[in-house]
Amino acid sequence: MVIPGSQHIEEELFQPTEDLQREAHVPDFSTYLTLYKKSTEEPEAFWTEVAKDFFWKSPPAGDILQYNFDVTKGNIYVKFMEGAKTNMCYNVLDRNVHDKNMGDRVAFYWEGNSPDHQVSITYSQLLAQVCRCANVLKRMGVRKGDRVAIYLPMIPELVCAMLACARVGAIHSIVFAGFSSESLCERILDAQCSFLVTADGVYRGEKLINLKQIADEALERCRDRASFSVKKCIVVRHHALRMKKGAASNKLQTPWNADCDVWWDEEMESASEECEPEWLDAEEPLFILYTSGSTGKPKGVLHTTAGYMLYTALTFKYVFDYHPSDVYWCTADIGWITGHSYITYGPLANGATSVLFEGVPVHPHVGRFWEIIEKYGVTKFYTAPTAIRLLMKYGREPVQKYNLSSLRILGTVGEPINPEAWHWYHEVVGQRRCPVVDTFWQTETGGHVLTPLPAATPLKPGSATLPFFGVQPTILNEHGEELEGEAEGYLVFQKPWPGIMRTVYGNQERFENTYFKKFPGFYVTGDGCRRDKDGYYWITGRIDDMLNVSGHLMSTAEVEAALTEHAAVAEAAVVSRPHVVKGECLYCFVTLKDGREFSHTLSEELKKQVRGKIGPIATPDFIQNAPGLPKTRSGKIMRRILRQIARNEKDLGDLSTLADPKVVEVLFSQRCEAAA
Ligand code: PRX
Repeated sequence: MVIPGSQHIEEELFQPTEDLQREAHVPDFSTYLTLYKKSTEEPEAFWTEVAKDFFWKSPPAGDILQYNFDVTKGNIYVKFMEGAKTNMCYNVLDRNVHDKNMGDRVAFYWEGNSPDHQVSITYSQLLAQVCRCANVLKRMGVRKGDRVAIYLPMIPELVCAMLACARVGAIHSIVFAGFSSESLCERILDAQCSFLVTADGVYRGEKLINLKQIADEALERCRDRASFSVKKCIVVRHHALRMKKGAASNKLQTPWNADCDVWWDEEMESASEECEPEWLDAEEPLFILYTSGSTGKPKGVLHTTAGYMLYTALTFKYVFDYHPSDVYWCTADIGWITGHSYITYGPLANGATSVLFEGVPVHPHVGRFWEIIEKYGVTKFYTAPTAIRLLMKYGREPVQKYNLSSLRILGTVGEPINPEAWHWYHEVVGQRRCPVVDTFWQTETGGHVLTPLPAATPLKPGSATLPFFGVQPTILNEHGEELEGEAEGYLVFQKPWPGIMRTVYGNQERFENTYFKKFPGFYVTGDGCRRDKDGYYWITGRIDDMLNVSGHLMSTAEVEAALTEHAAVAEAAVVSRPHVVKGECLYCFVTLKDGREFSHTLSEELKKQVRGKIGPIATPDFIQNAPGLPKTRSGKIMRRILRQIARNEKDLGDLSTLADPKVVEVLFSQRCEAAA
């Protein structure tokens, strides 16, 4: 690795500000290099030092890190600090309250969907609530290793429920509350969850969502299946208690099944605020989180206790250069990995004060984000490129109405950030004062793997820059050969770091096939990547059948399956098309069954069908009637061609492998210009 920019400069380079460097944990590039070298050459010593800050009921028994990444040499495994015993909940709460005497510090400023709703929660209050909740879980029969599904909006009870699971050693499986009943059912069954935590209802912007009804539909759908084992459903009275009394709050009917349902507040009332944590082995599971898989069936990514704890804590500390005076805000939903790692675990492990936001960026007005930053004096702000692009549309004025002088560091995650959005974020939001940390990572990686450190790494807009400590990226070509220097190819990692996933829940074979089979010896991210002359990494996007819509990954197969379940559809093929706000959007080609006619009504029905099956995030932007699809003689759909049609790229190259090249012309002539 060379000092960035020391050779001739083609790109813009943004150097860290001296102001930030003065107090930073990693104050310059050479400190980064020294620490990086130590983390890769002496990982045992590096992580042993990091672990000293945490509470261990018993220390590790042998090697700190053991692993096999080579499928030709046996099963893939990663073991970190084996033999050590600890508890995540104890480390993020009790350690701060009792050992560090920080009980009065605010853990979360909860800001509701409406600007009138807010609550502050200190570390002691959170600990007391979590203990009560842990006792409720235990009383209902939750035991170590049980899976608990959590289907909640962004409310304090969500953090409380996940930490209560961690305290009793249960494995939480959080399902984003924007997912459909079918998606929830699929996840409950796959993990054989025995408990479900949900809420009566929630407003997202103007829209009232009856969560309990969706949860009930999910349970109904699962009930007759062999792996169904939900015994109790705990319901948070969020809408009924927190919403102001008025016409709107009366609209919600909460369906109730007395055999299974209990109210959260009633159970909590009688529960004790003392609860001894369950001491877990370092490698015992902490949570499962589902991510889309290219076959269409979501994968339950499993993370374990000690490695994930250390990794999220350390990345949070260094990437956001955390200091006790900070007010940090990550706008993600806890239903995604960003929320798990950088709303709950990483910040709490550092004793940080965060904003927890229930709402959406444009409700009740388009300056909501900036209003919240001013209101709480946010110093570190972490969001997604799609949110930036959305807010850019409204210009500078809504930003400039608020005082954002508290901001010190800005972050992005979820998809490549286009330079235009980067510049707007840097200039308009960060007033050229705040570095933008573009963090590349995945549900599977547990925490940031390629990222700048704000006071150390010179920035290039659009590049996630360099590896975090302990991470060794490699670029391979199609033949699995390692490429040196400037190169482009598959992004892979040759060694594990503590926070990497351990398996696909209940399906080790799928874990190995998905991530390790293509290039034995490496974890394969599924992303394409370019390394420039300075050694900087530039993610070029997915190179498998996955799409990234508004920072959410989904597989073409799952959307196609939702479309073909419609009675009129014989076949469907889904590709991505660039979108100014979402980054990518879904462009669907459907071949109808004989006798069925394509119409605007059918197109709307199909969109609704996909929304209903997966959730609103998967709503297609375009549905095109396709009398035929471009296929090879062996019947394989050529998505490359469909992608080019969707994007109106006329130079299609060699079509000789197609069984019927004429279909391409027909599809071109009928392509959708603008979203219907
Ligand atoms: O394609 C990459 C993209 O998001 C994928 C991971 O998605 P998910 O598991 O849902 O986790 C998202 C939040 C960590 C990656 O394989 N991605 C994520 N961050 C970036 C990114 N692409 C480019 N730059 C990023 N900073």
